[in-house]
Amino acid sequence: MKIKIILICLLLNGMAKGQISSIPHLSKDRNTTQLIVKGKPFLILGGELHNSSTSSAAFMRPIWNRMAQKNLNTVIAPVYWELIEPEEGKFDFNLVDSMILGARKQHLHLVILWFGSWKNGYSMYVPAWVKKDQQKYPRAKDKDGQSFAILSAFGTASAAADARAFKMLMRHIRQVDSKDQTVITVQIENEMGLFSTERDYNESATQLYNDRVPDNLLKYLISNKGKLQPELDSVWKVNGYKTSGNWEAVFGKSIINKSDWKTLSYLTEELFTVYHYAEYIEKVTSAGKAEYPLPMYVNAWVKQPGFGGGYPGKYPSGGPIPHTLDVWRAIAPSIDFIAPDLYLSITDAMYTIGQYHRPGNPIFIPEYKHGDEAALMAFMAYTKYDAISFAPFAIDDWMPENDPITNTYSAISKVQSLILQHQGKGTMASIYVDTLKQVQEFELGGYKINVQLIRTLGFTDFAGLADKTKMVHAAAGLIINIAQDEFVIVGKDYSLKFDPLKSNVDKSNLDVEYMDEGTFGAKG
Ligand code: DGJ
Repeated sequence: MKIKIILICLLLNGMAKGQISSIPHLSKDRNTTQLIVKGKPFLILGGELHNSSTSSAAFMRPIWNRMAQKNLNTVIAPVYWELIEPEEGKFDFNLVDSMILGARKQHLHLVILWFGSWKNGYSMYVPAWVKKDQQKYPRAKDKDGQSFAILSAFGTASAAADARAFKMLMRHIRQVDSKDQTVITVQIENEMGLFSTERDYNESATQLYNDRVPDNLLKYLISNKGKLQPELDSVWKVNGYKTSGNWEAVFGKSIINKSDWKTLSYLTEELFTVYHYAEYIEKVTSAGKAEYPLPMYVNAWVKQPGFGGGYPGKYPSGGPIPHTLDVWRAIAPSIDFIAPDLYLSITDAMYTIGQYHRPGNPIFIPEYKHGDEAALMAFMAYTKYDAISFAPFAIDDWMPENDPITNTYSAISKVQSLILQHQGKGTMASIYVDTLKQVQEFELGGYKINVQLIRTLGFTDFAGLADKTKMVHAAAGLIINIAQDEFVIVGKDYSLKFDPLKSNVDKSNLDVEYMDEGTFGAKG
């Protein structure tokens, strides 16, 4: 019995321009969700710019071309509330236009980050006229009544002002871009939530915390009983599945576990805070979607070890952490999914992506710590987790020739159509081996596949000649079972061994029929 191995295969699926009928949207089936751009599934080979890069068109001018040279197809870039509405009610979209044109000229798409009321918890990008009027646009407060430099999620005028600015932005994008579709997705705010306090202690917040849990949340819980996220279900259950009462009556008192960052530290205050951020975010998002309904999401400063910590207040309380997904779904239905920003070890990143990979919540990674590990993780994101997007942060820091993502995206771009065809089907696997775990084994297409890290560059080091400073530490790739006994494999620095599964008796004498090795020029 023989198998064919094809290294890197090219598929082009063309589509005539006249067929483009819809704006970018999400397409969901039972197992996976994909982004559809110009009528076709689209994989975001992305990179997120530094926070202030798009505040200057001149600064950005040479960068767009570098992004294309890195083989990105999408740049993730901020739009700042303070710069589009410097004076209340007067909008200036020059910078937005320069971004769209800069990207479009390089055949790049854009994911826009709406730096509105919140950025990493704080409110540094809101216009000065908002910052100066704390009566109208109140701040969040701590237990002692001290204000943070953070807009309170209980500020109704703030939500209305943010919603109006975002609506104007989306109207403008529809007017200048719905034909070309350079902008394909929008992030609402950035890593919202409160540090060093589990909830806002301003007067309205405290009053509402002691009040009844709102009906819209209770109705959602009741009608989704049995289908809720396990963490929320467990807490509601312990408290007797109560269907009325104040927050602590329905969800109980806080229980904090400081010893293990992964376990659920359960804070009723966190749920309450998520509820009110989600309510605010829904006002902003729905106003924008009424103008131009692109896919929209919120991103999280995730629960993590180390300085971030595993309980709310260490990570921003009120942000889109997976155990709060039901509250986001109930209160912010215009949000299509929640997304993790990842600055973690590869092992913790895999765990966290797994936490976000829940039914109906596709993986979209807007930020990943830039560097060698990002170039490895990209392979896993698209194949193991069926990600829509992967993007190293601060992508404008490195020149294309020095950026490890350049080669990874070059390889992935050539098989992206295949990846999209195989997402959610169980016909694709990711490869990852490193010095700690040098062997990986899995089953695919009727074979047991054994992967081994090749540590020395190009030869087996029998004579001890290898340059130890240049040893390989980790390798990643992907393998797709495209037909019976045919595999497309992408990657480097690993070896593969195929063994027929025991039940497959007629495949006992396995051999390779042929193996092509190389690359293809065009992007498929
Ligand atoms: C996470 C934020 O979302 C980004 O905007 C950026 O500030 C990075 N942290 C910096 O590491």
